[in-house]
Amino acid sequence: MYFPSYRPRRLRRNENIRRMVRETHLRVDDLIYPMFSAFGENIKKEIVSMPGIYQQSIEHIVAEAKEVYELGIPAVILFGIPEEKDAVGSDAYCANGIIQNTIRAIKKEVPKLTVITDVCMCEYTDHGHCGIIKDNDVDNDSTLELLAKEALSHAQAGADIVAPSDMMDGRIAALRDILDENGFEHIPVMSYAVKYASAYYGPFRDAAESTPAFGDRRTYQMDPANRMEALREANQDVAEAADFLMVKPALAYLDVLRELKDNFDLPLVAYNVSGEYSMVKAAAEKDWIDGDRVMMETLLGMKRAGADLIITYHAKEAAKLLNG
Ligand code: PBG
Ligand code: ZN
Repeated sequence: MYFPSYRPRRLRRNENIRRMVRETHLRVDDLIYPMFSAFGENIKKEIVSMPGIYQQSIEHIVAEAKEVYELGIPAVILFGIPEEKDAVGSDAYCANGIIQNTIRAIKKEVPKLTVITDVCMCEYTDHGHCGIIKDNDVDNDSTLELLAKEALSHAQAGADIVAPSDMMDGRIAALRDILDENGFEHIPVMSYAVKYASAYYGPFRDAAESTPAFGDRRTYQMDPANRMEALREANQDVAEAADFLMVKPALAYLDVLRELKDNFDLPLVAYNVSGEYSMVKAAAEKDWIDGDRVMMETLLGMKRAGADLIITYHAKEAAKLLNG
């Protein structure tokens, strides 16, 4: 009979020992909470496919921002649902647009909460694409000008970090230039550097009312099959002075997170996207899984894969569990 001399179970005997040898930690400091700000008053409408997540008018957003801050979550990321959408996404870069007004309201009431803004056109265009349409596709360079204007208007309204999610080529440099030229050289750019064309964004598009009216996003978002391309995207964004790199979605791309962690020294963000959230919520509702445990295991897995920060709709629930 063979008996092993090295027994890994020795370090799993009780919770104290397990705590001592634990390699990865999820902290409230790691979490970023997404919020959907809708034009109007007295709106608080739950997104059917995302239980617990709401389209809200500004007064409700501010109230939730306070709650988020009190839980110790350091940052929120804002998405806007404007009063009107048009072909060139005018509300996106309007000084009194939905997001600009939301930033000012949050900064007035909860000044220490870090406000990150999603910089993209799809929430503001009537066709739902992430930029200006020319010849039936999104035109890269004319879109860059609008994205730059949008980021500048967010900074002017008080945003702490801008996060472009459009996937146009050269957008990090375009944003960096306009911010620097206007006295916002201290505002970091969080690049959605590696963003795949994913079916996991479905519930978000209900929330942001941003489903493309024709076609899909495959001419600008990445092909889910590609890993080397992720390195090229990240390299380009680093060369253009990005301050954070992001991988999105997270769950089906944990290998890509690890790849970026091993190859780059910038803070790395995982976006635990809407469809990933909805799957956990739906299965938990059916009592098929333990929702809290699956949530914590998933978030921990993203950290283990290399994420320093996680944008997640679970942020408040996770913070409550972590705060004990
Ligand atoms: C906008 C944007 C999207 C998400 C974040 N910013 C949707 C998309 O690209 O279609 C997805 C977030 C999520 O699914 O939670 N470009
Ligand atoms: Zn977009």
